[in-house]
Amino acid sequence: MRWLVAAPAMVIRSGPAVWYEHYWVLPTSVRSGLALTNPESESKDVTLLISDQTVRDHFPMSACIASVESAFAAAGRARLELVERRVVAAGDGARIHSLSAASQELGYLFSLVYSGTPTGEDKNVTSVNRRQKVFTLFDVTTGACEAIIGGRHLSWLNTGAMGAVAIKHLAPPDASSLAIIGSGRQARAALLGALEVRALKDVRVWSRRRENAERLISEFPQVRGIRAVDSVLEAVRSAEMVATVTTSPTPVVEGAWLRPGCHVNTIGAHYPDRREVDTATIAGSTVFVDTMTTAAAEKGELLLAEREGAFSLADVRAELGQVVCGAADWERRPDERTVFASCGSAVEAFGAAVGVAAWARDREVPSFELA
Ligand SMILES: NC(=O)c1ccc[n+]([C@@H]2O[C@H](COP(=O)([O-])OP(=O)(O)OC[C@H]3O[C@@H](n4cnc5c(N)ncnc54)[C@H](OP(=O)(O)O)[C@@H]3O)[C@@H](O)[C@H]2O)c1
Repeated sequence: MRWLVAAPAMVIRSGPAVWYEHYWVLPTSVRSGLALTNPESESKDVTLLISDQTVRDHFPMSACIASVESAFAAAGRARLELVERRVVAAGDGARIHSLSAASQELGYLFSLVYSGTPTGEDKNVTSVNRRQKVFTLFDVTTGACEAIIGGRHLSWLNTGAMGAVAIKHLAPPDASSLAIIGSGRQARAALLGALEVRALKDVRVWSRRRENAERLISEFPQVRGIRAVDSVLEAVRSAEMVATVTTSPTPVVEGAWLRPGCHVNTIGAHYPDRREVDTATIAGSTVFVDTMTTAAAEKGELLLAEREGAFSLADVRAELGQVVCGAADWERRPDERTVFASCGSAVEAFGAAVGVAAWARDREVPSFELA
C-alpha cells in the first residue's frame, strides 16, 4: 500500500516531507492545499490534520471562547462525560498525560495527550516549554477520526477562553478593571480572553520581575489604561476582576486586599499543596470550580483552606458549566465576592478542539485517510 500526495499545490513552509516505510511523514508546519489519498482504500473517512501553526494563525480567541462556552454548557447539562488528567511517569519525571471526554451533544469523542519533562529548580513542576500536545476528535456516530490537532497554541488559547467564560458568567457585568498577577504565557491568554468579554478601561499587571510585566504590556498597546504596578496590593485593591496566573507555590494575593464584589480567577496552581491566593480569599467568597473532580484532587487553594478549617469542598457553589447552562440557579449579589478556582479540565480542551474542527472543515487544511 502506498500513500500518494494528490494535490498539486503542496505547500511546505519548513522542512521536507519524509518518506518513511509506507507513509509520507509530514512536518507539522505543512500548510493548506495538501491532501493525502490512498487509491486502494474503500474508506471515505478523511481525517483533518491541523497544525499548531494553522491554529495559531487562524483560530481567534473569540471563536475559542464560543466553543469552550458550549462545551461547559454541555457539561453543566450532564451531556458531556470526561476522564480527567491521568499521568504515567517514566522515571526521573518524564511523563505522559491524557484526558478524554465524550459528548453526544457536541457530536464527538475526544482525547488530549501530552508529554512533559521536568526542568528547572522545581522537579515537581513539569516545564510548559518542553511539552508536545495532540488533540484528537472522533465522530460520535461513526467513530471516524475527524481531526488531529497540534496542541501547543490551542491549549494556551483554551485556558484563556475558559477564564473568559468564567468572567462572562461570574464577574460583575459592568466590570472594567482587571488585575493580572503574573506575566507569563497564561497571563497573556487571561488578558486576551478578558478583553473579549468585558470592556476594560483599567488593567494593572504585577509580576515578580517588573520588566516582565512591562514586556507584557508592551504587547498590548491597544488596551486602554494598561500599566505595570509595583505591588500585588496596588494591582488588586481597586480591581473588579483579578486573574492569578503564576507558578508561585505560596499565596501572592491576600483576601484582605480584595475589593468587595470583585471576581477572582485563580488559574496558576493545580497541585494540592500549592496556592496563589490565601485562605481568607477563599473563605470570604462564593466559590466555583471547573470540575469538582479536579478541584477535589488538585486545587491547593481549596484543599489547604479546608485543612485549616475555614472552608469545605461542600461549600463549592457550582461547577462553571452549571452556571453557564443555568442549572446552578445563581445570581450575583452586588457585594458578593466570587472565585473561580481552576485546575484546568478536559471540558475547555474538548470545546476548543470542536471549534477548530468546525473552522477547518470548510477550509483547505491537510487531510488524509487514516485507515
Ligand atoms: N488552570 C489551568 O487550566 C491552567 C492551564 C495552563 C496552565 N496553568 C498553570 O498556570 C501557571 C502559569 O503558567 P504560564 O505558562 O503562564 O507560566 P510561565 O510563563 O512560566 O509564567 C510564570 C509566571 O509566574 C511568576 N512567578 C513564578 N514564581 C513566582 C513566585 N514565587 N511568586 C510570584 N510570581 C511567580 C513569574 O513571574 P516573573 O516572570 O516575573 O518571575 C511568571 O510571571 C502554571 O502553574 C501552569 O501550570 C493552569
